[in-house]
Amino acid sequence: MAALPYLPFARPTLDEETIAGVADVLRSGWITSGPWVREFEDGLSRFCGGRPVKVVTSATAAVEIALQLAGIGPGHEVITSAQSFFTVLNMIVKVGATPVFVDCDLLTRNIDLAQVEAAITPRTRAIVPTHWPGSLADMDALYALARERGLRVIEDAALVMGSQWKGRNVGAVGDLVSFSFHPNKNMTTIEGGALVVNNAEEASRVDALRFHGITYLPDRTRDVAFPGGKFNLPDVNARIGVAQLAQLPEFLARRRLLVDRYFERFAAEPACVLPPRPRQGDGQSWNMFSVLLPLDRLTATRRQFRDALEARGIGTGVSYEALHLCTLGRRYGYREGDFPVTERIARETLTLPLHAGMKAADVDRVCAALAEIVGRSRA
Ligand SMILES: Cc1ncc(COP(=O)(O)O)c(C=O)c1O
Repeated sequence: MAALPYLPFARPTLDEETIAGVADVLRSGWITSGPWVREFEDGLSRFCGGRPVKVVTSATAAVEIALQLAGIGPGHEVITSAQSFFTVLNMIVKVGATPVFVDCDLLTRNIDLAQVEAAITPRTRAIVPTHWPGSLADMDALYALARERGLRVIEDAALVMGSQWKGRNVGAVGDLVSFSFHPNKNMTTIEGGALVVNNAEEASRVDALRFHGITYLPDRTRDVAFPGGKFNLPDVNARIGVAQLAQLPEFLARRRLLVDRYFERFAAEPACVLPPRPRQGDGQSWNMFSVLLPLDRLTATRRQFRDALEARGIGTGVSYEALHLCTLGRRYGYREGDFPVTERIARETLTLPLHAGMKAADVDRVCAALAEIVGRSRA
């Protein structure tokens, strides 16, 4: 039998119309930020309930700019979950602030708000929660706490473009919200990200922060009053974003069907810990399908699991390592045992293939391979 094609754990879906549209931009003579960026931002703003949205070259840039916009720097503390991607830790450190970690929920993987409250000090300026596919952080409790304690919120919504809170898209409510359009995400611009802000004043500050700090003077010369970065998204990427945003509902519906299939197949075997099961009409999006492997009952390590799946042509990911235990995190005094839930997830998590181009048969293939490997490695 011919070998099955390689199944990556993530993969963008780009149609011919999008590719032709990019070719048109390339031929147009204007390829960096221009009319397509404005069109993309207008579309994103409509998606976010009319709030101002600015696009940048990555979600990492969006988080850095959000921290700067909130005036966060040396002497300030920012509370975040130890179970997230390196972006959050890196950008807090990069602006000169101190990362303060808390633990997360085992099943939803969202930040533990009781621990956030306990971690607030007079130096705390912001909370940066990462929302997880399948269930968001409790936005009512999060914003009630932030309001009560006078803190900014920067929602890391990289994984949840299209998820809803009480019927409204993530980004349509809240303070500063960042999205990622990396090819692994719900929609892509190749690399790219967006920041949702509160008003025109913040939006024009983002314009400067993403483009050298430049402001324009009445005599058509320029001024720089603070050091900005260079994070403007080119029109080539924005053109892809416009097409992808239009297809987002279709992509999300596809992902949702595949997740339903995963849940069906996992109902019997193997005994992995799954995210909370989706409910009809819950408004959640699924960027990743990450399970916890029952490693304490198996002889195989996660590395062996991943290698065995790879040998069967199935790609996997690790989302995520424990931020407080990476070399940079440890510099702030963190040690093993500080956040047991995060550490268990970091040890056992495995991200399985999930993208809009997959078929139900691909899910069946992943689950069959996983069950076989579990069966062979029972302790
Ligand atoms: C939770 C989370 N936040 C932020 C990012 C950063 O996104 P970007 O690659 O667009 O900078 C990622 C990227 O994978 C992520 O997974």
